[in-house]
Amino acid sequence: MKKKEILLFGASGQIGRNLIRKLSKNNYKITAVTRNIHRTGYILKTQANPGYLDLVEIKDFNSPRIDELIKNCSICINLIGILYEKNKNQFKIIHTDLPDMLSYKANLYKIDKFIHLSSLGIENADDSKYAVSKLEGEKKIFKNFKNSIILKPSIVYSVDDKFTTNFMTLLSRLPFMPLYYNGLTKFKPIHVTDLVEILYQIIDGKHKQLILECVGPEVLSFREILDQLLLSINKKRFLIPLPLPLAKLSAKVLQLLPKPLLTEDQLTLLKYDNIESGINKTNYDLGIKSERVFKTELDKYSFNWRTGGQFAKKNDL
Ligand SMILES: NC(=O)c1ccc[n+]([C@@H]2O[C@H](COP(=O)([O-])OP(=O)(O)OC[C@H]3O[C@@H](n4cnc5c(N)ncnc54)[C@H](OP(=O)(O)O)[C@@H]3O)[C@@H](O)[C@H]2O)c1
Repeated sequence: MKKKEILLFGASGQIGRNLIRKLSKNNYKITAVTRNIHRTGYILKTQANPGYLDLVEIKDFNSPRIDELIKNCSICINLIGILYEKNKNQFKIIHTDLPDMLSYKANLYKIDKFIHLSSLGIENADDSKYAVSKLEGEKKIFKNFKNSIILKPSIVYSVDDKFTTNFMTLLSRLPFMPLYYNGLTKFKPIHVTDLVEILYQIIDGKHKQLILECVGPEVLSFREILDQLLLSINKKRFLIPLPLPLAKLSAKVLQLLPKPLLTEDQLTLLKYDNIESGINKTNYDLGIKSERVFKTELDKYSFNWRTGGQFAKKNDL
């Protein structure tokens, strides 16, 4: 069977690595762009069957190599995203200007599909720089490439994520955990394998001009997520509702860490529910269910954070 050509930006991230595995198993040939081949090459190379993955290092996104790569692909997928701003990595550059440029070139070279990952629950968050930059990116993309497909996932979790793993580390180390907005914000976490299945159906299918919200099977509040994490790592901690001024102060401190655990902008975004909007289609509307249950999946990798590790008994505190 003839291999199909995919160009992937942001391939070394949680979603990208899982997607490469799925695509290469299904006869897609992938060109993965990374900023530092020495840092990410070894993780990426092991994801695909031999002959199905090429790695390209691009440090400067004004490089003419981008044109050459887009010209030679049939599907371009953009998974590049950041959670906080640092130096040159500003939300507007990464979430608005970069997808603007990629979708413009995708249209210029008349490729078959442009697929982009945005985020759920950002429509009303006009006080969050992250949300505004992602929404602006969506608008630019549709303006440039009208048949684009934009996926908007809720929290994507797995052993490689930056959400459950960070919180399990915090819950293990702190004697108590602050509850922002009384822990009431709602999420519909989706396991990375289920999100990759949605992406695969979109890549392989005939969908055009689509905004698709990608959600898991359960609605969980922030408090319920923390409760399930604690249960899974077999630890007891006080969950303390934090008044907003104190929460803001804690974010001001936590964002000073080299890899910030919480920024002021993330705290702002946490105010908004992260569930389907009712405006766009969801994966369920396309008949693509997400059946992996948060607690069941979590139990498969949370032992790293449990005292005594994988073989500790459930109530050995
Ligand atoms: N994970 C979630 O819970 C979640 C939820 C909603 C939406 N999303 C969106 O889904 C997409 C993929 O998420 P993910 O979890 O796989 O992200 P991730 O693990 O953080 O990976 C993002 C990738 O973006 C690239 N990147 C980061 N900063 C960059 C920069 N300044 N310039 C160029 N490339 C840069 C990196 O690639 P290299 O280091 O190889 O260059 C990295 O592998 C993102 O757009 C994210 O916003 C994720």
